[in-house]
Amino acid sequence: MEAIVAGPVRRERLTAEIMERTGIDEAMIERLVRGFYAKVRADVVLGPIFDIRIKDWEPHLAQMCAFWSSVALMTGRYHGTPMAKHLPLPVDAGHFDCWLELFEQTAREICPPEAEAHFVERARRIASSLELGIAGTHGVMLGNGERFRRNQTGAV
Ligand code: HEM
Repeated sequence: MEAIVAGPVRRERLTAEIMERTGIDEAMIERLVRGFYAKVRADVVLGPIFDIRIKDWEPHLAQMCAFWSSVALMTGRYHGTPMAKHLPLPVDAGHFDCWLELFEQTAREICPPEAEAHFVERARRIASSLELGIAGTHGVMLGNGERFRRNQTGAV
């Protein structure tokens, strides 16, 4: 008879299985996070949005490593509220496209194909849920496949 495994033991097994299947480990996550935010900071569209809000980058990078460890490896290392942090940001579909383009480019450079696909699938899903949430705060209910665009004057 198979034992019932729950809680931490089950999570550890899941993490081990994902690591085995994708090759992802904490060191790869750190390379991805550092590589990605180096691109973000140098980007003309995204850079200023982060620069104004993040004065000390090391704690943010540590937080992002914990986040990706939780998302990609199911380690439960991250305890935060990303939606609340993004709702007030002056961003729309264009910013999310830009974010994803840089993220996907970094994942391609740093990860083997299975790991790249694993990260990118999750990043796209989370980006789309953040965009949906931001649209909602502006009274816009996005339908399937619809994007959130602010008015043409660029007012945000
Ligand atoms: C338009 C694209 C995005 C922009 C401009 C953006 C910007 C930011 C900024 C400025 C912060 C710091 C907020 C603060 O500490 O007050 C932040 C935090 C964070 N972002 Fe984003 N972000 C974007 C998309 C994403 C996406 C797609 C993800 C996930 C896949 C993500 C995950 C996070 C997480 C986990 C935090 C940390 C929240 C916390 O402090 O717990 N972001 N982001």
